[in-house]
Amino acid sequence: MTLFLNNVSVSSNDGTPLIKNITCSLPMAGMYGIYGPGGCGKTTLAYAISGIIPKFLDYEISGTVKTADRDMAKISKHEIGKVVGIVFQNPDYQIFFHSVDLEIGFPISFDSKKVNDIADTLGISHLLNRPSDQLSYGEKKLVILASNLTLSPKVIILDEVFSSLDEKYGQRIFTLLQALSQKGLIVIIIENTRGKIPLGCIKIPFSELKK
Ligand SMILES: Nc1ncnc2c1ncn2[C@@H]1O[C@H](COP(=O)(O)OP(=O)(O)OP(=O)(O)O)[C@@H](O)[C@H]1O
Ligand SMILES: [Mg+2]
Repeated sequence: MTLFLNNVSVSSNDGTPLIKNITCSLPMAGMYGIYGPGGCGKTTLAYAISGIIPKFLDYEISGTVKTADRDMAKISKHEIGKVVGIVFQNPDYQIFFHSVDLEIGFPISFDSKKVNDIADTLGISHLLNRPSDQLSYGEKKLVILASNLTLSPKVIILDEVFSSLDEKYGQRIFTLLQALSQKGLIVIIIENTRGKIPLGCIKIPFSELKK
């Protein structure tokens, strides 16, 4: 699996520059951690990699984002989730369904066996019949991760997810993602300090992505 960003710049729709001239090459599957201070552009970068910009957020983007040889600017909206998954920094922007099982099953037409399997793998079966809006922040992020993984994406981005998980879930999710990375997944863990990136990731400061 590969991910290449070449000279990517993003401005908001009022013309404010959000990230500038980002170039990054991840030539193989693995566990990567990108860190940098608040406001440096990590979430914007995550939106650019995942195709949310420009497909869902009408921001100005230049440069190229290529995932698994696919140009993310040219990919159709319904294909995006099969290429790049993303767990948002704020899960409330990403929860759409009233109950957890519906939320997880949405991308796979609510196939209940697959929903149960993925929930079991992540250790969240006990949440399946809970209303989504009662979940804690960390639980919501696990549900969104499960929903993303049902599509077996080639890249998954976790925007400040690990800092929302306790040690038990942090370890469990890390082990799961590491096993998937050994089978070809690129995992990108975003945090605001180096120390929050789990051990075992290749750590990349955001400042090093500038051309
Ligand atoms: N729509 C927008 N219009 C103007 N400025 C914006 C917009 N969205 C984000 N920004 C600004 O762009 C910069 C980068 O934001 P971004 O959310 O990508 O940072 P971040 O590194 O993820 O920060 P944090 O660590 O706090 O999550 C910030 O200064 C932010 O205020
Ligand atoms: Mg952010």
